[in-house]
Amino acid sequence: MPKRLYISLLALTALLLVTAGTAVVAAGGEGRDWRSWLRVMPNIAPASHPAYIEECGSCHLAYPPGVLPAESWSRILAPEALADHYGDDAWLPEALVAELRAYLMSNAADGSARIRERAFAVPGEGQSESSLPRITETPYFVRKHNGIPARLVTDNPEVGSFSQCNRCHIGADTGVFDESQIDIQGFGPWKD
Ligand code: HEC
Ligand code: HEC
Repeated sequence: MPKRLYISLLALTALLLVTAGTAVVAAGGEGRDWRSWLRVMPNIAPASHPAYIEECGSCHLAYPPGVLPAESWSRILAPEALADHYGDDAWLPEALVAELRAYLMSNAADGSARIRERAFAVPGEGQSESSLPRITETPYFVRKHNGIPARLVTDNPEVGSFSQCNRCHIGADTGVFDESQIDIQGFGPWKD
């Protein structure tokens, strides 16, 4: 192996160890089984930008930026699109939109290193020019949710639609979407 490659690999391994160590300490899990650390480590980075959480988290979960590709966020934030946002008015001043855009663009699914976020990088098919992109129409989302009957979602007044992630994923606002942490409101914990 060329010496420079060897040194880079060594540096990368050291970096990974430090990162993992930090995550473990951050999870506060001294003396716990290592698998419990894995479980509390968010697999999707939660929304972290205060203005984004405030403005985009009042009607639904402030969706993690990593669940849509940059192109989709860009279309959602277009000024004419915000004023007609899935049937609602979510208009915001230009300067604020620019700030949110920068945040979403740099944390979008297609530029992410997280495997679970990369899965969301493929946009839904058949999205016409006139309709806005949806997380709930991405192939990955559809694949993960197509076994859930309508009586638990649209016909369930305590959930209403798949867009309300946190009415089923109790850890959604911390980025946890694990199958083991699902409690569907008005129904109960999910057992596969
Ligand atoms: C006034 C309420 C309101 C605000 C504020 C709002 N939204 Fe929405 N949003 C909605 C509604 C209603 C839907 C459609 C939900 C449904 O179909 O059940 C939606 C859907 C979405 C979806 C698609 C979810 C899916 O089904 O995959 C995204 C993405 C989204 N909003 C992003 C944003 C962003 C980004 C902001 C901030 C700029 C924002 N929203 C602010 C009301 C709002
Ligand atoms: C009606 C309840 C419900 C809603 C609303 C919902 N989910 Fe889910 N989700 C589930 C269930 C149940 C599963 C597990 C399905 C299975 O058995 O594979 C799941 C699985 C997932 C998974 C895969 C988890 C894994 O460990 O493989 C992800 C990621 C996910 N959901 C994200 C989302 C996002 C993002 C939203 C909102 C846009 C959302 N979900 C809305 C019920 C829901």
